[in-house]
Amino acid sequence: MKRILLVVSAGLLLVVIGCALYASRMIHRGFGTRTAPGSVEASLAMTMRDMAIPSRYKAMRNFVAVTPDVVHEGMAHWADHCATCHANNGSGDTMYGRRCPMANSTTPSRTVCA
Ligand code: HEC
Repeated sequence: MKRILLVVSAGLLLVVIGCALYASRMIHRGFGTRTAPGSVEASLAMTMRDMAIPSRYKAMRNFVAVTPDVVHEGMAHWADHCATCHANNGSGDTMYGRRCPMANSTTPSRTVCA
């Protein structure tokens, strides 16, 4: 019994030390969008985002049919309102986008920032 308690205590101690080291690293690095977060931070953020979306909304599908006209309209809207930062191809290779790597829309932020 004592041995199990010792093993569990040692395991808990390791977890606490690991959390403290990770927290210290995050505090040292700070929070921002200019540097890509680590995989743990990215994974936590994606999990929290998924948890924040009620399941009835997760099950919803886009009711707008994908037709060539709709796609063209979307592309025109993107060019007018989004390309300033994200670039027409979504690369973020613009005067504004280069200042924030997150503006690269060609890959989801979970991989851009991982
Ligand atoms: C003024 C610059 C700017 C404009 C204009 C802009 N964006 Fe962004 N966008 C950003 C930046 C910067 C981010 C990253 C923000 C962050 O995560 O902190 C971003 C993030 C996003 C993301 C999230 C990307 C991801 O990988 O999670 C989407 C989607 C997006 N923008 C879509 C759009 C759309 C659609 C438009 C036009 C209707 C648009 N943006 C216009 C600067 C801009």
